[in-house]
Amino acid sequence: MRFIIETYGCQMNVADSELVSSILISAGHSPVTDIDDAQVIIFNTCSVRDHAEQRVLGRIANEKHRKSSNPEIKIGVIGCMAQRMGKRLIEIEPGIDFVVGVDQYQHLPHILEDAESCAEDALQMDKTQVYPNVMPFRQDKNCGFVTVMRGCNNFCSYCIVPYVRGRERSRPVNDIYEEAKSASEAGLHDITLLGQNVNSYQFDGYRFPDLLRKLNNIESLWRLRFVTSHPKDLSDELISVMAECSKVCEHIHLPLQAGDDQLLKKMNRSYGVDHYLGLIDKLRAAIPGIAITTDLMVGFPSETEAQFENTLRVMEAIRFDYAFCFKYSEREGTAAASYEDQVPEEVRLRRLQAMICLQRKITLEKFRGQIGKTVAVYVENFSRRSDDMVSGKTRDFKIAVLSGGADKIGGLSKAKVIDATAGTLICE
Ligand code: SAH
Ligand code: SF4
Ligand code: F3S
Repeated sequence: MRFIIETYGCQMNVADSELVSSILISAGHSPVTDIDDAQVIIFNTCSVRDHAEQRVLGRIANEKHRKSSNPEIKIGVIGCMAQRMGKRLIEIEPGIDFVVGVDQYQHLPHILEDAESCAEDALQMDKTQVYPNVMPFRQDKNCGFVTVMRGCNNFCSYCIVPYVRGRERSRPVNDIYEEAKSASEAGLHDITLLGQNVNSYQFDGYRFPDLLRKLNNIESLWRLRFVTSHPKDLSDELISVMAECSKVCEHIHLPLQAGDDQLLKKMNRSYGVDHYLGLIDKLRAAIPGIAITTDLMVGFPSETEAQFENTLRVMEAIRFDYAFCFKYSEREGTAAASYEDQVPEEVRLRRLQAMICLQRKITLEKFRGQIGKTVAVYVENFSRRSDDMVSGKTRDFKIAVLSGGADKIGGLSKAKVIDATAGTLICE
């Protein structure tokens, strides 16, 4: 059958869609890029905020008309929302034919044959599942992900991920090495290691810094990155390995969430603001020019105006290169959803806007600070704006555009930054 996967949520879902594609292709099905050609439409979903769930439900409602003109068409839901809601999804949206949870993707070929069979098992969580022996089918030829662990043990009080993804488990170090080696030999020279808490990787005595050291030896690999790091697991050893390994890029994504100790405690983040600031100092001292990006949340239950201001002050002190700013969303079953003092929606929205506005200003200043510098751009594709421009990434995770054509794609270009917006370096 011809299938298409529409992916929502984080990079873990992007990587999982590549796994699922690979599983389906091995079973004889073929991927298509135009939904009009698809006989199977799969939505890989996210549950992290209510908005993410509503969006996907809207998309499914929009696409189910295809089944009335062609009753052969099947619609499936996989990913975190499938895991969270299971059969309830089919009750809400009867257009859905099958729902498969995050640990059962190997059964998808079987489920496609008979949408009814396997229905019970399709939602089982499997705390050891790491999909051994499945080589992802990669859409992007130049840069991509290698999953190193699945699940999360942290139970931040607002977060649904540990419930839908299960407990943390690391993949065998040799599997990761082999996958990274063969992918980079096939042209994937910029690899991002993936895990919900990637720096707590641990397999047979191998810890995350050991893994970086090992992968740094792969000749065909040019750049190595990783997301997402938790501040509680950012050891001095990891910082020195980042500094010492030539391929590990000068960038870290280190979610702060809030710049207030009381809030961080209620969030169950297991660090305080001083610890976080200390990490930033160590990173900047060890890795000159390192870019630091983060996740921040406004409107967590009981957040006062003063606490929110504390977060803004910490943002000003640190000056992140970029911050993903989110408005707290209650997730049924998490600890924070039962806290009494929920912040009114309009207050959440106002704080979010103020936060985004502050970060935009800092990001623009940071990007403009690069003007005049020479950067190495790993060119990934044509620029979205024009056919005689290409775009890529710098080592410190900034999007850069420069003039050029197909011959530049997949290679490194040295370029001078001549202008910048709050998201793109314009180079020559
Ligand atoms: N494991 C990663 C990613 C988690 S989800 C990490 O720990 O950083 C990505 C981001 O979504 C989180 O960092 C957090 O800022 C945000 N997020 C998680 N749950 C949320 C919720 N209930 N409401 C709003 N934002 C949330
Ligand atoms: Fe969620 Fe916290 Fe785990 Fe990240 S570390 S996935 S925020 S529980
Ligand atoms: Fe969303 Fe699941 Fe990722 S809830 S953020 S897709 S792990």
